[in-house]
Formats: sequence, structure tokens, C-alpha cells
Amino acid sequence: MDNLENHFGDDASLDEKDEKTILDFLVKYSAEKSTKEASFKILKSLENKDIIAITQTSFWKNEHKDIPKDVFLHNEVKSKANCKACHSDVEKGLIEDDKIKNISSFM
Ligand code: HEC
Repeated sequence: MDNLENHFGDDASLDEKDEKTILDFLVKYSAEKSTKEASFKILKSLENKDIIAITQTSFWKNEHKDIPKDVFLHNEVKSKANCKACHSDVEKGLIEDDKIKNISSFM
């Protein structure tokens, strides 16, 4: 949030009010404040590394290691960051096994 002018290669600058709203949301719902199992595992896998994307954590990489790389390039997926393509309920903060789409449709 400190360098939104260069956000993964895009200029994502916001006005002060929107920036504060989003920052407050991120702090409120951060892994440090969550009781979800995945949050504990993600925090643990950070160790002391300076990681800025969840997809770079060893936990995320390990959970997705069996998914062929081409699946993330599929037209309905496009990016590892598009969690919702495979995790239907991710916007509710839920990543349950029974809500993971069958990725064979992306192969
Ligand atoms: C191409 C589809 C796909 C995308 C995109 C994807 N995932 Fe997953 N994810 C899966 C599959 C499939 C599994 C189950 C892997 C297994 O059990 O072998 C999984 C497992 C997980 C798990 C472990 C679930 C558990 O109950 O242990 C978490 C947490 C997770 N994903 C988070 C994310 C997040 C966060 C993103 C976005 C940054 C993301 N995933 C993007 C397909 C995807």
C-alpha cells in the first residue's frame, strides 16, 4: 500500500480516502487477526521472508504444486492471483475443499 504508483507494474494510485478505506480493511482482515486455518499456515510459511504476494509463499506454492502451469494460463483463469476462478467462495473468505472447482475443465 506504500507504493501504489508501482503496484506489480501498474499505477494503482488512489485518493487519500479510498487508500485509507482499503488499508483499514487489509489490516482488519489480515492473517495476523484471523482464526482461519489457512491464515495460520500462510503466516507460518512467511518465516522472515519479505513476501508481498500470497502466491509466493511456500504454503501457497505447496498447495498448488500439482496443478499444471497451463491451467493458470487458461482463458477463464488467466493468473494465479485469480483465486475466484477455482475457489468459488473466496470472496467470503472461505477456501473449503468442497468449494474448489474441478480444474479439469481448465485443461
Ligand atoms: C487454477 C485453480 C486455482 C487457483 C487460480 C487458485 N487455487 Fe487454491 N487450490 C486449487 C486446488 C485445486 C486446490 C487443492 C489442491 C489439493 O488439495 O491438492 C487448492 C488449494 C488451496 C488452499 C488449501 C485449501 C485447504 O483446505 O487446505 C488454499 C488456502 C488456497 N488454495 C488458496 C488460494 C488462493 C489465496 C488463491 C489466489 C491467490 C488460489 N488458491 C488460487 C486451485 C486453485
